Amino acid sequence: MKQLEEYVRSIPDFPEEGIIFRDVTSVLQDADGLQLAVDTMQDMVKDLEFDVVVGPESRGFIFGTPIAYNLKKPFVLIRKKGKLPCETVSIEYELEYGTATIEMHKDSIKQGQKILIVDDLIATGGTTEAMIRLIESLGGEVVGIVVMIELAGLKGRERLKNYRLESAICYE
Ligand code: PRP
Ligand code: ADE
Repeated sequence: MKQLEEYVRSIPDFPEEGIIFRDVTSVLQDADGLQLAVDTMQDMVKDLEFDVVVGPESRGFIFGTPIAYNLKKPFVLIRKKGKLPCETVSIEYELEYGTATIEMHKDSIKQGQKILIVDDLIATGGTTEAMIRLIESLGGEVVGIVVMIELAGLKGRERLKNYRLESAICYE
């Protein structure tokens, strides 16, 4: 059986020179790859107790929803600016390349709920840190973060040192 990392395609100089893009489409377009990715990530947090899974647009949706579905938990979307129709909280942050603003619905989390964050990849940790700020501003408690890929050289783990972070694959 293939290992999860064997399904990930690495593209040099995308979307700009100097970035090695870790492509998850090659994982998703293989039925075994998709199943292995979701099962592995879910297994890494099996000891955690939480109420809600939160994932960011767009690749966070792909991995967050099946984990929430399997565990019969609700799934809350964090979206890029201007996409959510009801009242939102919002935050701007820096990415490995560029900046972004993300938002979540004010009524999507209730005070005291325990939250699992799911995303495909952690690079600088900026997206996750911004998500944590949004969640905490609504009274949620982030009890864990699980990603398929960690780019360790960008030191996201240091930035998130007060939180439990699980990654299925780690690149230097
Ligand atoms: C990517 C990725 C993570 C984030 C990681 O999303 O899916 O959410 O960047 O980078 P960071 O740790 O430096 O914040 P992106 O904003 O490119 O959106 P996409 O999933 O819609 O491509
Ligand atoms: N998102 C941020 N940095 C990335 C990278 N190097 N590969 C894939 N997705 C990313």
